[in-house]
Amino acid sequence: MSNPSLLILAGDGIGPEVMAEVRKIIDWFSKNRGLAFDVSEDLVGGAAYDAHGTPLTDETMQRAQESDAILLGAVGGPKYDVLDFNLKPERGLLRLRKEMDLYANLRPAQCFDALAEFSSLKTEVVGGLDIMIVRELTSGVYFGEPRGIHKEGNERVGINTQRYTESEIARVARSAFELARKRDNRVCSMEKANVMESGVLWRDVVTEVHAAEYSDVELSHMYADAGAMQLTRWPKQFDVIVTDNLFGDLLSDLAAMLTGSLGMLPSASLGAPMANGRPKALYEPVHGSAPDIAGQGKANPIACILSFAMALRYSFDQGAEADRLETAVNAVLADGLRTADLMGPNDGTPVATAAMGDAIAAKLDASL
Ligand code: IPM
Ligand code: MG
Repeated sequence: MSNPSLLILAGDGIGPEVMAEVRKIIDWFSKNRGLAFDVSEDLVGGAAYDAHGTPLTDETMQRAQESDAILLGAVGGPKYDVLDFNLKPERGLLRLRKEMDLYANLRPAQCFDALAEFSSLKTEVVGGLDIMIVRELTSGVYFGEPRGIHKEGNERVGINTQRYTESEIARVARSAFELARKRDNRVCSMEKANVMESGVLWRDVVTEVHAAEYSDVELSHMYADAGAMQLTRWPKQFDVIVTDNLFGDLLSDLAAMLTGSLGMLPSASLGAPMANGRPKALYEPVHGSAPDIAGQGKANPIACILSFAMALRYSFDQGAEADRLETAVNAVLADGLRTADLMGPNDGTPVATAAMGDAIAAKLDASL
């Protein structure tokens, strides 16, 4: 049998330099744990636009569809701000999500013990925090029609449409309930049923799926604005949060920053199982392309490395090896190694991107 295929789309900004560290880790697992992958690379975002005049070519889209998993770095940069909306780097990422139907976006917000002091909240509020946001990723206002900007009389009108079908809500609700069963068995669903019909439907469908299939899981509901407030007040009250595309975008940034370590957090975007039983899957850090520090060896590769750990867990059924990698990351942090994003101005010398990757590989060596 051939090796599972891994398509690397490093993208823009710090994407390529953090991905170089992930390659070290992938090589480590193939050399030391017998986990061989067929790794190939391709372009996405501004990099693809520069080479081909589009943020994602049809050929790359096709390769993505045929890959067992995709690892993506980051897309975007100021250089591309002037581009037509449909040529912007972000459209490449959105096309991948939509055409692969990656409807369940898993965004863990975990507080690393060694970094609790970096949170803007008190250590007692965030210490030991471990929540999972499940964001619906392929529908809602991001994709709903009609959309666009048109003229009405003398002025322009901008339109986007929030639209959800029952089946779109039900399948992401199932993802959340399944995850909760492997965690603390609690799901909180967030919408704005007080204002939006799509929120009323969301609440109804989540409640129905729960009653019919998951009554062993504890379910609660919150309006998304109250949810944001509760996330900053006492985040540890949550286990799994399930919410729509736009609220999930906002709430996951908020949750990530609670941990004090936006540069540390991975994500998985999962779709339906393929013929080989693996889910369609794309893994990427929650952080962006950070063009201001690109190419200077300042970027933190940990979020991207932990995204590969998620790939080991969710695509390749290698939970124990994912644990090994996460333990190695924790060990490096416990030793006091910090990239620049994790340091104050008077905290000494940061380690460079490549040195962080090497240190994690060394901890992996020590784990054998
Ligand atoms: C994210 C990002 C994207 C989004 C952008 C880059 C299109 O903010 O993954 O959260 O809005 O979904
Ligand atoms: Mg976002």
